[in-house]
Amino acid sequence: MIRYPRIIAHRCGGHLAMENSIAGLLAAKRAGCRAVEFDVMLTRDGVPILMHDETLERTTHCKGAVAALTLAEIRACDPRVPTLAEAIGMCERLGLWANVELKPAAGHEEETGAVVGRWLARHWHGQGVISSFSEKSALAARHELPEAAFALLCDRLPEDWQARLSRLGAVAVHLNAVHADEATAHDLASAGIPWAAWTVNDRATAERLFTLGAAAIFTDRPDLW
Ligand code: G3P
Ligand code: MG
Repeated sequence: MIRYPRIIAHRCGGHLAMENSIAGLLAAKRAGCRAVEFDVMLTRDGVPILMHDETLERTTHCKGAVAALTLAEIRACDPRVPTLAEAIGMCERLGLWANVELKPAAGHEEETGAVVGRWLARHWHGQGVISSFSEKSALAARHELPEAAFALLCDRLPEDWQARLSRLGAVAVHLNAVHADEATAHDLASAGIPWAAWTVNDRATAERLFTLGAAAIFTDRPDLW
């Protein structure tokens, strides 16, 4: 049975530092957080980096599509963008549990899952869980990581959630807090499946979710709890 820390810093704790950054990992740890979530995408030269959007403008000093630029080109305009290797290294040094969310650029779903899965299989010795909105990506990663914990990541729990869990060999569900209602919580509890909800930045919502039985919440504000 997978064990979840109750508070997971979303995008490394995006409110306290640049999202998906090493500074975010350090800030989450300083805030007393034991767990983080981050998004992983491939550069043009196939290096997994921490990035949420397919384009760089919103969160970095760079311009353009992540999939169109090499790691060196991205680092030249914003050296703060971390590789997966740097982020996992820091998580292991800080003792942080990690949710690695595969965030493939369109058209790179299988490649992203396979590359990240292979890298994690060789180098990741920490604790955590792997997820993706892309089933293709998640299945490609699962192929490389037969023993790892996977979670089904969805907005609303889909009708065929049990079939999806079983295809992926997933042991948990991550869903949008907006859709975490009593019926959903009941269905998951009856099947013995732990669940976590994103993204929660206020105490009242967190209390509602924990009362419903959430194992964890993802938050941009790891300093709030
Ligand atoms: O993995 C949970 C959450 O991060 C999913 O949404 O768009 O912030 O990656 P997003
Ligand atoms: Mg994410």
